[in-house]
Amino acid sequence: MGPWPNDPLGPQARTSAEIYWIMFVAAIVVLAIVDGGLIYAGIKFRDRPGHTAKQFHGHNTLELLWTVIPTIMVISFSVLSFQKLNVMNDTSGAGMTVNVQGQQWTWLMSYPKEDRFKLTDGTYLQAAQELHIPVNTKVHIQLSSKDVIHSFWVPNIGGKKDAVPGRATDLWIQGDKPGTYKGQCFEFCGTGHADMLITLVVQTPDEYSTWIKSALVEANRFNDPATKAGRETFLSQPCVGCHTVQGTVAAGKVGPDLTHVASKKSIAGGAISPVDEANLTRWIKDPPAAKPGTTMPNYHLSDEQVHDIVQWLLTLK
Ligand code: CUA
Repeated sequence: MGPWPNDPLGPQARTSAEIYWIMFVAAIVVLAIVDGGLIYAGIKFRDRPGHTAKQFHGHNTLELLWTVIPTIMVISFSVLSFQKLNVMNDTSGAGMTVNVQGQQWTWLMSYPKEDRFKLTDGTYLQAAQELHIPVNTKVHIQLSSKDVIHSFWVPNIGGKKDAVPGRATDLWIQGDKPGTYKGQCFEFCGTGHADMLITLVVQTPDEYSTWIKSALVEANRFNDPATKAGRETFLSQPCVGCHTVQGTVAAGKVGPDLTHVASKKSIAGGAISPVDEANLTRWIKDPPAAKPGTTMPNYHLSDEQVHDIVQWLLTLK
């Protein structure tokens, strides 16, 4: 990170930074000339004892100058903007394509349907909020939205494109050096908008293949047929709105992260311990009864649903 908050660390961000700085400097020069001239003339030619201000109007040379110069500037900026926009919108020649879907209030990243991202159940790797890409590789992002308009933006890497329901939009990103970059939904999309974050991880090719392997192991863990029912119940219930389980679409931030819930000593802020089948069942069946005052409501799940969810949660070690 340099001295500027939007220090560009990829060609996409650099392209917009370049045009930003050209226009910024031009605006400063214009400001200095116009306001400088105004102040200078105001002081030098003002009406004062010993000097009478001259009244006149019309000055062909000056008027021509301040019409022609701004016209040339505006035309130049337009041409420059279109050139830069072409670069920024050109998704051709990308090394990989990732589908990114915005929904209230998370991002679902679907990796390409390539063998290296394939899971044991025949589907392909997906993740919420976190996107991993290899360094110095042009990555094509296909944006869509499930509900309202969102906007994908990782400032250091660049881009910023709306995710619009019912319509595909395109963007490309590329990172100069490995690191973790923060992004944010940039279109107000409801109460959870501020928490609709993006974590972009740029990795060396070695790190990237290592990460794919571990991400597949993690994701395949959720494909175990023995706990499939519980996982699907959990992911289709309001649970996902409050809780995060890494490797799934559950990315809620209101309640505790359940990624490793089965390894915890207690749940419900320490009120329930140990974390075993009996306690999880009692808790999920009726949270307010197990811990008065808890913000987790009773969803009146059936005994079977509770059983399935508990069996799944117990695998989250
Ligand atoms: Cu999604 Cu703001």
